[in-house]
Amino acid sequence: EREKTLAMVKPDGVLGNYTDEIKRVILESGFNIFKEKISQLDEEQTATFYAEHSSKSFFSSLIKYMTSGPVLVMVLEKENAVADWRALIGPTDARKAKNTHPHSIRAMCGLDSEKNCVHGSDSLQSAQREISFFFNEMSSDEEVTTH
Ligand code: CMP
Repeated sequence: EREKTLAMVKPDGVLGNYTDEIKRVILESGFNIFKEKISQLDEEQTATFYAEHSSKSFFSSLIKYMTSGPVLVMVLEKENAVADWRALIGPTDARKAKNTHPHSIRAMCGLDSEKNCVHGSDSLQSAQREISFFFNEMSSDEEVTTH
C-alpha cells in the first residue's frame, strides 16, 4: 500500500549543502517527493514537534539545534514509505551509522546522536501528525507542490 511519510533535512544538513545529494538518493530509492518546503522553526514549534522528548536531558539542546537554521521538509510517497525511509536514513546516532550502516544518509552527512542531519517519522500515525504539522498548521510558509 502506498504511504506518505515526513522527511526533514535538519539545519546541519541544509547548511552543509547536503540537500541536493539527499534528494538524489530519495528519488533513486523510488520515493516520489509529493510536497516540499523550506521552513525556519521557532522554539515553540520545535517544542511542539518534539513534545514526546520534552522530559529528556537533551531537549533544550535539541531546540537550540533545530532552530539554528532552515530545514527542508518533504512529504515522501511510495509503498512502505515510513519503514523504508527510516531504513534509508540509518540509526539515530550518526557515529554508529558510519560503522554499522555506511551507506545510510546519516552516515553520509550526520555528526553524532544529536546532529544527525535528517528526520523520518517513526510510524504511520507519527507521519500523519508530522505531515499535518508542517503542511496544514504552518500554512504561512511558502509551499511547493512537486507532484
Ligand atoms: P530524531 O530521532 O529525528 O528525533 C529526536 C531527535 O533528538 C534526534 O533525531 C536527535 O536529533 C535528538 N537526539 C536523540 N537522542 C539524542 C541524544 N542522546 N543526545 C542528543 N540529541 C539526541
